[in-house]
Amino acid sequence: MKTFTFEKSQALFDRAAKVIPCGIYGHMSPAPLIPPSDYPFYAASGTGSRFTDPDGNEFIDYMCAYGPMVLGYNHPKVDEAAKKQRKLGNCLTAPAPVMVELAEKLTDLVSGADWAFFAKNGGDTTTYAVMVARAATGRKKIVAIKGGYHGVAPWTQGFGHHGVIEEDAQNIVRIPWNDFAAFERVVSENPENVAAFMATPYHHPTFADNEMPAPGYWKKVEDLCRKKGIVLIVDDIRCGFRLDVHGSHAHFGFKPDLVCFCKAIGNGYPISALVGAEALKNDAARVFYTGSYWFSAVPMAAALACIEELERIDGPKIMLEFGDKLLKGMVEIAKGHGFTLKVSGAPSMPYLRLTDDPSLVLMQKWCGECTRRGAYFTSHHNWFVSTAHTDEDLQRTFDIVDDAFRAIKEGGK
Ligand SMILES: Cc1ncc(COP(=O)(O)O)c(C=O)c1O
Repeated sequence: MKTFTFEKSQALFDRAAKVIPCGIYGHMSPAPLIPPSDYPFYAASGTGSRFTDPDGNEFIDYMCAYGPMVLGYNHPKVDEAAKKQRKLGNCLTAPAPVMVELAEKLTDLVSGADWAFFAKNGGDTTTYAVMVARAATGRKKIVAIKGGYHGVAPWTQGFGHHGVIEEDAQNIVRIPWNDFAAFERVVSENPENVAAFMATPYHHPTFADNEMPAPGYWKKVEDLCRKKGIVLIVDDIRCGFRLDVHGSHAHFGFKPDLVCFCKAIGNGYPISALVGAEALKNDAARVFYTGSYWFSAVPMAAALACIEELERIDGPKIMLEFGDKLLKGMVEIAKGHGFTLKVSGAPSMPYLRLTDDPSLVLMQKWCGECTRRGAYFTSHHNWFVSTAHTDEDLQRTFDIVDDAFRAIKEGGK
């Protein structure tokens, strides 16, 4: 099978390194996880489930822009809605009517949501949720999960991270996932001082198997929050609309007070949302929180079209089913080559690991081999599927996976 090379990507990165800190920073930074011999550093264009890099290589995309691409790149309905709104206006002196329509749609669709607030990035909404919880309770402490990611605001990063001071995360208490007793302990050690419990619907850290909630976990957390007046915040930024169009809490059967969305709600248009229960609406109104582009109408029109389409086709079901077929097939192919591919998390955003090498070096090598054959896989982060992935993608992916295992067994490149 033909393998790709990435000369143009590398030349661009050399230029970038001179004028951009890190060349490419944050979650898309190639260092140190992405070997330059195996990965494109830039994407030139995207259509449906695939993107093309500056060297002209085409990839079946299993990262989906780290989540925002959910219906496929350049989705006609979403792009048409955005185009229509762009003609009318985007960043205006007052909000566009579509903002109200979008809030009505989200509150109709997401179970337990009585109001919606819009911003740009996921982290805007996690910070806002924390402020609303503190405003509502007059308390300081936020209980969150060890290894849980809620953005890059200083409070979300532990002390020791560059640029973070001790006081930034002083009132954030991290406990292990699925450890209800630890939550009870924090609550009893901080009487009348826990403002919120914040977690993702299931635990999806990087570099580690993902974990579903233990039976009864969410119900116990919800009950304790109610009893103690603690605000229950779900960070549905990554899972949102990949498990259930009514919110991932509907999938797991519990009722949060606040839910953070981003990624899948706009199919790539920049928008995030915090939705909440009626009881917190006045507190949300009292917190001053805004941004220059938070009222931009084009992403709102795109999000409305995206959410309507996800609901119409039952997008999460399609993604869960596709993911299931993909994972079962890959596990079998791995087995045929004598490898064990362990899958965790939801099939619509699975985490994979080759257990044959606990150091993850083999996993990194295999992901690289697949990527330079045209199936873009990462070794340290959960993958994403979209409703645009096709049976043809599936077959092509299986062929690539098979060839990559063969190459690894033969000793590499
Ligand atoms: C679970 C979770 N929370 C919060 C965030 C932060 O979102 P953003 O990067 O859009 O600020 C992310 C981003 O990956 C996320 O996955």
